[in-house]
Amino acid sequence: MCGIIGYVGEKECTPILIEGLRKLEYRGYDSAGVAVLETDSQGTRTQVIRCRGKLSNLENLLRKDQPSGLVGIGHTRWATHGRPSDENAHPHKAGQVSVIHNGIIENHLSLRNQLRADGRVFSSETDTEIIAHLIDEELKKSGGDNLREAVRRALKQVRGAYAICVLAESAPDQIIAAKNASPLVLGLGDGENFIASDVPAILAHTRKMLFLEEGEIADVRKTGIEVCDLEGKRIERAPKEITWSAVSAEKEGYKHFMFKEIHEQARAVTDTLRGRLSVESADAFLDDVDLAVADTKKITIVACGTSWHAGLVGKFLIEQLSRIPVEVDLASEYRYREPIIGKGDLLLSISQSGETADTLAAVKEARQKGARTICIANVVDSSIPRASHASLYTHAGPEIGVASTKAFTTQLAALTLVAIHLGRRTGHLSEAKASELIKELLLIPSKMSDIVGLAPQIQVIARRYGQARDFLFLGRGNNYPIALEGALKLKEISYIHAEGYPSGEMKHGPIALIDVHMPVVVLAPKGPGYDKVMSNLAEVKAREGKIIAVATRGDKDIGTVADEAILIPDAPSFLQPLLTVLPLQLLAYYVADFKGTDIDQPRNLAKSVTVE
Ligand code: AGP
Repeated sequence: MCGIIGYVGEKECTPILIEGLRKLEYRGYDSAGVAVLETDSQGTRTQVIRCRGKLSNLENLLRKDQPSGLVGIGHTRWATHGRPSDENAHPHKAGQVSVIHNGIIENHLSLRNQLRADGRVFSSETDTEIIAHLIDEELKKSGGDNLREAVRRALKQVRGAYAICVLAESAPDQIIAAKNASPLVLGLGDGENFIASDVPAILAHTRKMLFLEEGEIADVRKTGIEVCDLEGKRIERAPKEITWSAVSAEKEGYKHFMFKEIHEQARAVTDTLRGRLSVESADAFLDDVDLAVADTKKITIVACGTSWHAGLVGKFLIEQLSRIPVEVDLASEYRYREPIIGKGDLLLSISQSGETADTLAAVKEARQKGARTICIANVVDSSIPRASHASLYTHAGPEIGVASTKAFTTQLAALTLVAIHLGRRTGHLSEAKASELIKELLLIPSKMSDIVGLAPQIQVIARRYGQARDFLFLGRGNNYPIALEGALKLKEISYIHAEGYPSGEMKHGPIALIDVHMPVVVLAPKGPGYDKVMSNLAEVKAREGKIIAVATRGDKDIGTVADEAILIPDAPSFLQPLLTVLPLQLLAYYVADFKGTDIDQPRNLAKSVTVE
């Protein structure tokens, strides 16, 4: 989720790059940098200036030494491979080639080894530097005069997601841009052209934009742009006129960041799974994270809020697939009850921000008692990863809306990876079952996109029931934490009182609340426990409660009891939470939107809670 900008034209490019990066800082802010081609009578040199921290740090450096040139690229980073540092900041230079990149290269380890064997020396931990070396190598092979061709050949060796901009000293008038599974847009100007990861970065200069498609390469010069595919075949496509305002462009046209982030979930989950699953070997790989499976007797999960709900789903997954016992604790409670944990135990913390004070304190406590501490986090090198023995990162990208959405589903994806990994190693998950589950997991992102397509129906339901004073959310098994999450989402952004309950517990108390004014949202996908949930629904119906059911497409019975049925694609029960939560996020969003609350920054809440 890094920000990218490129300029080629007749103006000094550094101020244009910085202005664009300022508009992109919301995408990532752990380091920033620019590379500018400086050409004079002696030839062309690349000036690379980059540093860790916010864009203001880079601006301070540029005040002392501003590169001067008409062709340049700029980057603001959201770390995925390699912690935030000066060395890992983009652009990365290898030989005469400089590269900025947004995305994840899946085969980075094998490419790095191969390049090392060829004598290449690396100065960063990033996957991006590999691309720079590959292109420099190809450029050398071809005599150094065809950058576009060198980029094309290099990209043929790369597997994964990328949006890149490339400069070379032997090609002082051009930038080569390429895209696969990460966004990239070209802005067409008069005697100048722009490249950006997002429209807002270049909207002040042009509204004529050409969005690159998967596997396309653009040769960008001040006089024009040529696009071809990875086979070198020319592509002709007319640019579009963008009519968005600057503010809505930042949200890519969505009304709120939360709504944008709900839509980003298919991409975020894909990125989190990318390069970590193999159907052939029926296994899940956790980067370099060593769970010390053979020594692990018990796992304790600690987290807060939405991340705690992910932990509850994680317990279900890990216990079922690996048979290792799992406890789930609220981090805010954990430390104060003298937790029984020590050597041979694994503490798995979950945190989007990596900064939640309660979770951090729990990690420190467990580590001090001798437990192995692993975290699932979204923000690379934040406090919790730094306090842990190892970290498995979700690749959700920056989450701006206070109400967590894509961070949650990527946490579920990461926990599924952990459960498969453990299950294969404890021997409880057979090869056949693992490979079946992995195949289904890989189908989840497209099913998520399908569910987001139900937004108009959910908007109507939200309007119909959004005046209620209270909501009840019910779910069983691994859908019980989703009921909790649905209730939390509604509370956070619409300020309506809501409670999540295991459906079987309803008759032990909450049933007293049910009357004609009480909407009851029930998670009733097909699978184990479905019949029991249907009986619970009958109990609600008998008390005139209004039932909003999330059920499986094709379910003929649900319509006989539910007032509203949101029908979603089928999935194995292990994976259902990745889908069932989406309608609840949308329901909360639309209720809040009708109420006109401040959805992205709801009252009394903060994105990361750094006080205990
Ligand atoms: C979720 O919508 C909330 N914003 C909140 O519950 C959040 O999940 C919690 O504060 C934990 O944050 P973390 O994942 O950054 O640690």
